[in-house]
Amino acid sequence: MTQDEMKLAVAQAALKYVVKDTIIGVGTGSTANFFIDALATMKNDIKGAVASSIATADRLEAHGIKVFDLNEVAAISVYIDGADESDDGLNLIKGGGGALTREKIVAAVADQFVCIADESKLVSVMGNFPLPVEVIPMAANYVMRQITHKIGGAPSIRENFMTDNGNLIIDIAGLKITHAKAMETELNSIVGVVTNGLFAQRHANVLLLGTPNGVKVVSA
Ligand code: 5RP
Repeated sequence: MTQDEMKLAVAQAALKYVVKDTIIGVGTGSTANFFIDALATMKNDIKGAVASSIATADRLEAHGIKVFDLNEVAAISVYIDGADESDDGLNLIKGGGGALTREKIVAAVADQFVCIADESKLVSVMGNFPLPVEVIPMAANYVMRQITHKIGGAPSIRENFMTDNGNLIIDIAGLKITHAKAMETELNSIVGVVTNGLFAQRHANVLLLGTPNGVKVVSA
């Protein structure tokens, strides 16, 4: 089974978690794109979706799925999105596509967070994937110095990239993330950081993991 076939399988399995007649949250990335395409088959069963990026909003609208501004909605039943890494507590690294801030906001509002990923994303200790941090552009060098001093790892500015919010991404390579909640808090306390790609305080509730033997359901 290829990685794309595993992504497709988890995207289709996630349809079971879609709550009918509600507004759902939809993430960003290649796995989320498989989910959006699958969601199109039941688009008349939901009121619509809140998107975690401009790219996701465009794809939802291309399928005729109504996209709501988050400020128009009172609740989101479920948020469905991919991840760059997950540990077995369903703490995640996200932001490989640079959409981490909007993803974190939509995930915070949602009653349930269902993460969809192929089996390569489940690791014993996170950090092999560089941790993304969204920063206000004028603070980038200051934030990198603070990261080196307080967190460690090797921070670098993602080249030729601007987030949907007009900010920069710093990727921190070489971390071993054993205390994800504490690191999430410490990074967010650096002035100039918008947010970081650790989803530990609001981790996933369910991880649907694509394996060659089918979809495995992991709960926190
Ligand atoms: C985007 C993300 C994505 O969920 C993450 O990068 C995984 O992407 P993919 O499904 O393409 O592997 O956090 O900001």
